[in-house]
Amino acid sequence: MKNLRDIDVDNKKVLVRVDFNVPLTNDLEVEDDFRIISHLPTIKYLKENNAKIILISHLGKPKGKELGSSLKPIASKLEEISSYEVKFAEDALGEKALKAINELQTGEILLLENLRFYPEEEENNSEFAASLARQADIFVEDAFSTCHREHASIVGIPKFIDAYPGFLLEKEIKALDNALLKAERPLVTLIGGAKIITKTGVIENFLKKADAVLLGGLIANTVLELKELYGEEKLKDKEVFEAIKNINFNDPKLIVPIDGVISKDSYSRVGSVDTIKEGEDIADIGPETINYYKEIIKKAKTIIWNGPMGKIESEVFSKGTLEIAEAIAKTGNYSVVGGGETIDFINNKKMAPGFSFISSGGGAMLEYISGKKLPGIEALEKHYGRQN
Ligand code: 3PG
Repeated sequence: MKNLRDIDVDNKKVLVRVDFNVPLTNDLEVEDDFRIISHLPTIKYLKENNAKIILISHLGKPKGKELGSSLKPIASKLEEISSYEVKFAEDALGEKALKAINELQTGEILLLENLRFYPEEEENNSEFAASLARQADIFVEDAFSTCHREHASIVGIPKFIDAYPGFLLEKEIKALDNALLKAERPLVTLIGGAKIITKTGVIENFLKKADAVLLGGLIANTVLELKELYGEEKLKDKEVFEAIKNINFNDPKLIVPIDGVISKDSYSRVGSVDTIKEGEDIADIGPETINYYKEIIKKAKTIIWNGPMGKIESEVFSKGTLEIAEAIAKTGNYSVVGGGETIDFINNKKMAPGFSFISSGGGAMLEYISGKKLPGIEALEKHYGRQN
């Protein structure tokens, strides 16, 4: 695919799909600017090359226009971290957006209001996509982290105007492909977090591709439970039961915790997994598991990690995640990490330099490393060659 650098953006209206879906505080301040910073190379390049930059994004899951989901605070944050002036339009389609776009001068940046204020975005409405596209000359897809969504701004717009990958999208694909397709062995995957249902594809794929799949977090709880119950169909959640039915839980590559910080209500204790009683949960991986996982990590040449090892929202249950992060950083080998919570944790602990690549994609990264084609990337590839 042609690169953004190969095309002439001078004086062109460039519509850039970014992912400014970032956490906000109750006072509507940006809590974590990692995703905003990740888009700076594309924005900077377009500015320096005299494009008229129109940024579009979603934020949250609003039901109609909700003040708490306005992108306005993001415009201020982008202004602060980039030191560029960032204009804001209070709609994404309509009079205000049109006026602001028409007034844009070369090198100026405009952020349009939350795309999800329009139900047509998530409905993947073609007319909505066409109207967004008509506001510009060129489309740049920079939001890898939204490419798993079949929404109008992601799969619709490339049907109507020339579309190119942005630098962040390219970087994400390259980093993940390096870990997936060119992985130096042993390849070790760590999967944690709360919802096994969103990670079954990854576990299945890596049981085929990786040398070891290490589980942590609440996912490990489910798997440990299943190791006992599977076959007897006792698992209460039928949806989970259905989702995990293709995973071979006896695969020797699938490694689950041997001990944990076991908790119930307000008490917790360290114990082996076979001491877990009804109503108890593993809130973090235990010391023996940490050591066991560290030994495996030490030997790994490529590491892919998504999801915390415990309930890291509580400091007392974050030791496992911290020690695993430190162990990965120490290897100095190729490591890719993703997932909102894991990234927040690593950034808060100022450990980002210890990793080869930090993916901005949560769900998108999971789907990509499950081996699925992401609709946003497919749309770009399909329509890319149209006029080029
Ligand atoms: C994300 O946060 O993973 C992306 O921005 C996609 O958001 P969504 O899950 O609300 O579609």
